[in-house]
Amino acid sequence: KQVQAKQDYDVMAQAAVFYQQQLKQHANSEQVIDYLKSRGLTGETVKQFQIGYAPSEWDGLMKSLGQSKQSAHQLRDLGMVIEKETTKSLYDRFRDRVMFPILDRRGKCIAFGGRIIGDGTPKYLNSPETRIYSKGRELYGLYQARQANRGLERLLVVEGYMDVVALFQAGVTYAVASLGTSTTTEQIKLMLRSTSEIVCCYDGDKAGRKAAWRTLENALPSLVDGIQIRFVFLPDGEDPDTYVKQYGKEAFEAQIAQAKDMVSFFYEHLYDEIGQTEGEFARSKLSQLAQPLLEQMPDSEYKNAIADTLSVKLKRKIDVKSVDRVTQAKN
Ligand code: UTP
Ligand code: MN
Ligand code: MN
Ligand code: MN
Ligand code: MN
Repeated sequence: KQVQAKQDYDVMAQAAVFYQQQLKQHANSEQVIDYLKSRGLTGETVKQFQIGYAPSEWDGLMKSLGQSKQSAHQLRDLGMVIEKETTKSLYDRFRDRVMFPILDRRGKCIAFGGRIIGDGTPKYLNSPETRIYSKGRELYGLYQARQANRGLERLLVVEGYMDVVALFQAGVTYAVASLGTSTTTEQIKLMLRSTSEIVCCYDGDKAGRKAAWRTLENALPSLVDGIQIRFVFLPDGEDPDTYVKQYGKEAFEAQIAQAKDMVSFFYEHLYDEIGQTEGEFARSKLSQLAQPLLEQMPDSEYKNAIADTLSVKLKRKIDVKSVDRVTQAKN
């Protein structure tokens, strides 16, 4: 099994090298490089993130790395080529796309994200789950963030590949992308192995706000004392990439400095959901929504703060201890 894993990492590394070579050698090279330039990326950044190009042919990777039956099947198992149902022939999953290798925390390539050049759908194509890649357990950019910093005061979670790369180039070298809508419990735990503060900065749209709340929910069990989580909401229509390009590093970091604390976001979101803040209806609804969330939290300053605020808002005493007993009974 270990031999298998080593071979898998080797093949993925070779694929990354192949895509990087194609970026330089392919007939479309100039056009792709122009696209990367139009996105503001420098050659140095492209190198740092090992960004490449998946050629437009049906079998570019297949031809280069899948010549033996064994290697072809391995490429298939790793999600790099797809088997045609009718003829069983194999063709490249990623074609005519800008390729972002996804590295694990030790720097090994385990998957790819491929962006279409210009407009079209799907905008991004990602590796499927494979025996070496579990989407919800990895973070794009974590390896580079750890390499670039001696100890991470905080990690910034963003939505996309381009956000991580553009921020890094602008000097914000501590961003990672969860590559899904929200950030999973496993991803939160993974970040907390490298830092004690997480700042979420999703896109300034409805989906981004929803993702922020789901992330808060997923983080609740991990919020022991010493851990901080905060939330940045960019103006509607912006993402970290567009924001840092337009306003620069200082302005972006000012947004981070003003990130909303967890307790404020918690109540703002719940009151948003309830639709009103005063009256018996709002109070009973708040209690109903907040209590189960409180129950997921370990004993901590955060929990005390949420419970204290809740008791003020409900105009009655909240017994945190009894809440803890419920948690223990459940486990
Ligand atoms: P966005 O649509 O916000 O893309 O999706 P983006 O990163 O800002 O893309 P650019 O700036 O137009 O290049 C955020 C993330 O969601 C995932 C990708 O990880 C993307 O970076 N996504 C998005 C997909 O997996 N597939 C898609 O079709 C779109
Ligand atoms: Mn978006
Ligand atoms: Mn975006
Ligand atoms: Mn973007
Ligand atoms: Mn909700």
